[in-house]
Amino acid sequence: PESIKAAGIAAIQQGKTKYTPAAGTLELRKAICEKLERDNGLQYRPEEIVVSNGGKQSLYNAYQVLLDPGEEVIIQAPYWVSYPEIVRLAGGVPVVVETDESTGFRLTADMIREKLTNRTRVINLNSPSNPTGAVLSRRELEEIAALAVEHDLMIVTDEIYEKLLYDGAEHVSIASLGEEVKRRTITVNGLSKAYAMTGWRMGYTASERIYAKAMADLQSQSTSGPSSISQAAAVAALRGSQESVEQMRQEFDRRRRHMLERLNRLPGFSVKVAPAGAFYLFPNVSALFGETIAGRKITSSDDLAEVILEQAHVAVVPGTGFGAPHHIRFSYATSMERIDEGLDRIARLLARG
Ligand SMILES: Cc1ncc(COP(=O)(O)O)c(C=O)c1O
Repeated sequence: PESIKAAGIAAIQQGKTKYTPAAGTLELRKAICEKLERDNGLQYRPEEIVVSNGGKQSLYNAYQVLLDPGEEVIIQAPYWVSYPEIVRLAGGVPVVVETDESTGFRLTADMIREKLTNRTRVINLNSPSNPTGAVLSRRELEEIAALAVEHDLMIVTDEIYEKLLYDGAEHVSIASLGEEVKRRTITVNGLSKAYAMTGWRMGYTASERIYAKAMADLQSQSTSGPSSISQAAAVAALRGSQESVEQMRQEFDRRRRHMLERLNRLPGFSVKVAPAGAFYLFPNVSALFGETIAGRKITSSDDLAEVILEQAHVAVVPGTGFGAPHHIRFSYATSMERIDEGLDRIARLLARG
């Protein structure tokens, strides 16, 4: 949005171009506290917030400070590609809970319970989910929260897609479900998705002071505080009118419905569960395995993604990296015209056989 760009330009002109505190400017941390209270029903103080270069660095910081070597993190598959790697970089062990469309890609407390060992340290949550778009209900989150409290586990919850919800889905921050679970939670969020600010690199965590202090110290010795200019723009984004967020959501919803309908008409593609959040569609394409497309035998989602890229010049992401080898991921974070053009090309490729 223009007002956010203008705030970035003003920051440069006003000389807000120096180092900031490692955890971010006080002004931005205050604006984040206001946002968490307003949108998520969460009360935090600025010293409990750490601003980073994107939600990704926030996740990295969180796992670096939480994990000792060999400690386990419960991660739902299909997962965002970076979770297992971020956990491994911190010396941890990803423990994957497989889910599929038969249960709406939902993660339940019972599924987590089956994977618990005496080394389990963290439950990783991502609702709305990239890549499936699944949104956990208040009830499901309450059960997961109770489990975490019962077994004294930490929760890292990545809520970066919270604003992109469809079909009446509600976003609930697990930390808002009670003091006991709040103490054990590091909430990760950022501005990349809600304000289309991916290149500004703005993410943050909200947690107990002890974790915030550790993450700020880590950041202080690795990257220092994030860009002062981006932080000024982030204050404008969080405190300004939120109208553009809702406009964007409605536009995404329109594209989601359109793409969903078109994908389900492509031979061999099946989206059984309409995503209730984020901006991805994640069709199951296993019906095409064994078929030949453009002279190439398709045995995996990697093969299919490659043929689509090479022959139709459309970029889709194979599910393998998401722990979901039967799927490929489409993004509708692009214009309707481009969506139609891409799907037309894929349809022509499939018709060619
Ligand atoms: C689930 C999820 N979390 C976090 C991120 C990180 O976003 P950023 O580092 O731009 O804030 C992404 C970006 O694709 C994402 O999909």
